[in-house]
Amino acid sequence: MRILVTGGAGFIGSHLVRRLIQSGRHSVVNLDALKYSGNLENLADLAGHPQYAFVQADICDQKAVHATLQTHRIEGIINCAAETHVDRSILDPGAFARTDVVGTGILLEEARQAGVQRFLQVSTDEVYGSVEQGSSTEGDRLEPRSPYSASKAGGDLLVLSYWTTYRFPVVVTRGSNTYGPNQYPEKFIPLFATNAIDGEPLPLYGDGRQCRDWLSVYDHAAGIQHVFEQGEPGTVYNVGGGNERENITVAEQIVATLGKSRSLIRFVEDRPGHDRRYSIDCRRLRALGWSPQVSFEEGLKQTVEWYRTHERWWRTIKSGEFKDYYQQQYAKRLQQGTACGL
Ligand code: DAU
Repeated sequence: MRILVTGGAGFIGSHLVRRLIQSGRHSVVNLDALKYSGNLENLADLAGHPQYAFVQADICDQKAVHATLQTHRIEGIINCAAETHVDRSILDPGAFARTDVVGTGILLEEARQAGVQRFLQVSTDEVYGSVEQGSSTEGDRLEPRSPYSASKAGGDLLVLSYWTTYRFPVVVTRGSNTYGPNQYPEKFIPLFATNAIDGEPLPLYGDGRQCRDWLSVYDHAAGIQHVFEQGEPGTVYNVGGGNERENITVAEQIVATLGKSRSLIRFVEDRPGHDRRYSIDCRRLRALGWSPQVSFEEGLKQTVEWYRTHERWWRTIKSGEFKDYYQQQYAKRLQQGTACGL
């Protein structure tokens, strides 16, 4: 199929684009606005590949989306383009509503009018909200609690309404916390790994006992491709790694892998509205034939090693726009934070 992947220069998007092309079943047009976290270096190995093309555009730009669908005779769409960082959504919520709701709506409507045969929306387990006990299934109520997850929930509902209303063949994936190479270092694992490499403090929010289900980016990309190729139209699929860990445990694993001191960990002021736990039930996708292959302990070690051996990649990022963001998000927190006991 000729597939348009939006946000293909980002973290999950770039791994997905590579995987789709390597499967030998698809050609890919990558449409990416190249905002702060989009990075063409993530796909440098595909430059000039006959099954790959790049278009720089925003999913909110209706004309550019329309022209791309026509020019490349697109048959399927996977929407990875999104504002994704919860902390940034607290600082600037408007950007999230624009891209994750309005942008998704523009892409969806252009896709319907162009007669696209398949539309996959990449979403998140955060739309279910904080789950104190048990695991969320796809039919559960959406109870998003941050501007980020609320925007993603809005996008999901819009996409699903196109199946109900127009029988437009959409599918939605809701992935859990994803980690791996090329993740922008604002996120927990790459931030902690790169700070630890530099001997800088690791800002752990609140009591550090929040729980996330970690999913390798390789398993996540495989899950998205599986749903794209085999999912039932109008259906949501949870994609989780089955690796629930408390943040403090992951922070300790990162410092241990790098041979650094646990005293780098600082307890700092919590994220407002911080969700305590996410947990998803993935039986529906497993029944379709997908299961995660990467063990968290092995995947985390390899990821930390990737950051250790790709300093140029993340130092370029950390010396740019990121510095202002880091200052705004962490300066006061780190001043007031308390060190973790040895
Ligand atoms: O669950 C899927 C979601 O996972 C995705 O939809 C989001 O795009 C992605 O950002 C991620 O959301 P989280 O908020 O869970 O990820 P983040 O890496 O920001 O944080 C993971 C946990 O670590 C969370 O409990 C907050 C905590 N944390 C994070 C940062 C950046 C800290 O304690 N300190 C930090 O500096």
